[in-house]
Amino acid sequence: MDKMWSGRFSASASNLLDEFNASIMYDRKLYKEDIEGSLAHAAMLTKQEILTTEELRQITDGLNQVLSEIESGEFEWKIGDEDLHMGIEKRLTAIIGEAGKKLHTARSRNDQVAVDFRRWVLKRNLDIVGALKLLMKEILVVAEKHTETLIPGMTHLQHAQPTNFGFHLGAYLAMFKRDIARFEDSYKRNNVSPLGCAALAGTPHNVDRDMTAQLLGFDSVSVNCLDTVSDRDFALEILFNIATMMMHISRLSEELVMWSSYEFGFIELSDEYSTGSSIMPQKKNPDVPELLRGKTGRVYGSLMGLLTVMKGLPLAYNKDTQEDKEGVFDSVQTAQISLEILKEAIKTMEVKAHNMESACAVGHLAATDLADYLVEKCDIPFREAHFITGKAVAKSEELKIDLSDIEFKYLNDIDSRISEDVLEFLVLKNSMNARTSAGGTATVRTKEQLEQFKTFLEG
Ligand code: ARG
Repeated sequence: MDKMWSGRFSASASNLLDEFNASIMYDRKLYKEDIEGSLAHAAMLTKQEILTTEELRQITDGLNQVLSEIESGEFEWKIGDEDLHMGIEKRLTAIIGEAGKKLHTARSRNDQVAVDFRRWVLKRNLDIVGALKLLMKEILVVAEKHTETLIPGMTHLQHAQPTNFGFHLGAYLAMFKRDIARFEDSYKRNNVSPLGCAALAGTPHNVDRDMTAQLLGFDSVSVNCLDTVSDRDFALEILFNIATMMMHISRLSEELVMWSSYEFGFIELSDEYSTGSSIMPQKKNPDVPELLRGKTGRVYGSLMGLLTVMKGLPLAYNKDTQEDKEGVFDSVQTAQISLEILKEAIKTMEVKAHNMESACAVGHLAATDLADYLVEKCDIPFREAHFITGKAVAKSEELKIDLSDIEFKYLNDIDSRISEDVLEFLVLKNSMNARTSAGGTATVRTKEQLEQFKTFLEG
């Protein structure tokens, strides 16, 4: 009968229940936030003359001792204590006695867990932003070197139009920049203090919620206590933000895997970030991007898991909510290691520019340019220009050459309105550089885009 809530019970909890009910083995990760929250709460209770200065001193010293016991590994985490909140409070009371029992005045575990977990998640939003910026910086270094390196732009994984590799990487920079905005936005929106909401309805004690909010670094206090103790939007948001970021990482990873293949040969991952085969001695496998692609699945799982946990819960707190943490811890850890390893893999990979450029010489990448030429120089309606270009492509196929290598006479045979200046339009580099519309692939435009990302990263 050593439970903190044992007053109304006449039999002890079964060991099986203890094991099933406890979160202490994983929520102990929140120990810093829990102790900081208690210190702020105790300081506020003292200012409001609910605790004496002497009681505050004892609580502060006691909590600091608990903190050092946890950090040195001495602290005994017991399943029977259920969660970290009770484990820490119990130890505090064992150290300081009566004053420890007063700490929970005007507080419930419901607002306590809400404040601890929220603060932990808020900080991780910012950590991930930092790691994303480091990744973007490495991608930018590679992108800036390759604003003239041709690469086949694709749709449906078929050669479409020539672009440059810097532009291609710029697409990922744009995605990661939006991801950063999402993490920052979640941070701002959710930076409100739950402390003082108590179990669900607030408290009759004369608490100062603004004071604890300020001590804990929140921008303001939450508006409705009933909402606050059951709200886990902040956790869902970081899971969604991570899931979306991992989706972007996974798309880039998929390209890295393809580009590492013999068939593409666009990049080679460094030995440090590749693995071998246990049977085939010649193999060099892109395990890093493959695993990044794979880990995206578990992160999606955590998001779906928590959405499902929350969907049927009546107000306010329900024990189901305790299932909010492990998926978030796992996703955050996955996000952090993924960002780190992707950054290193990109930093150390070799870009095989020559192969990217040779790949552009097949697949008639300049076909749209021929159609655009017919529209612009010969005043032919686009649909007709498309048809004529189709004929030129068919002719090239028949000649077993790429459209960019076709001789003028064949084009002129197809349509006599075509004059010799057309050949300039079919040069692949010219094709890439012709796309000067805002956001386009032309080297000048690509450089402008990369400059914007650079300014963003420096800011
Ligand atoms: N371990 C619980 C959780 O993580 C803490 C809150 C428990 N509150 C309660 N009334 N049972 O959700």
